[in-house]
Amino acid sequence: KRVVVLISGSGSNLQALIDGVQTGELPVELAAVISNRPGVLGLERASKANIPADVLDHKAFADRETFDRALMEKIDSYQPDLVVLAGFMRILTSEFTQHYLGRMLNIHPSLLPKFQGLHTHQRAIDACESHHGVTVHFVTAELDGGPAVVQACVPIFAGDDASSLAKRVQRQEHVIYPLAVKWFAEDDLRMIDGKSVLKGEPL
Ligand code: GRF
Repeated sequence: KRVVVLISGSGSNLQALIDGVQTGELPVELAAVISNRPGVLGLERASKANIPADVLDHKAFADRETFDRALMEKIDSYQPDLVVLAGFMRILTSEFTQHYLGRMLNIHPSLLPKFQGLHTHQRAIDACESHHGVTVHFVTAELDGGPAVVQACVPIFAGDDASSLAKRVQRQEHVIYPLAVKWFAEDDLRMIDGKSVLKGEPL
């Protein structure tokens, strides 16, 4: 299966996918990496792994619709089976999410449906939660609202700040994202009637 990865930053989740492919655990071809921000570390990670890397700077476009259409064209030129959002910090138009419905995954650093949106680690601490985590989900028109595929849960400790908690969560991101992509690549994971289905069982 061909996978296109969209990033905006450091690309540590991209790296986890690259590592999975290189060790042979993840049976996909990383066809391209596209960033909406120039000069980010994730682009270097892609180049080092000999993956075609493109920048499509949203600032060069008049509005969200025009950017999303250009992005669709760029993605589709690689003919992916799956689009993976890995720290891609853009809100997507419904035209875009519809186009990739059932073949686009996102990773969100919270135990969805808790803490949609930004600053999830600080918000979990402020809410005195005992646990926090991360969710991989199919992308639908609803922001951080598509059906969940897999979650990982971590404890919140008394001395935690947003950064120590983020680190603990990220270690789990790097485990569950390659796993979800592997399931999809092996046809074990599908979105059917708006629900995630794993090995024939609705989640
Ligand atoms: C991750 O924490 C992910 O959950 C969130 O953005 C961050 C991306 O990190 N959506 P990286 O670019 O993969 O290092």
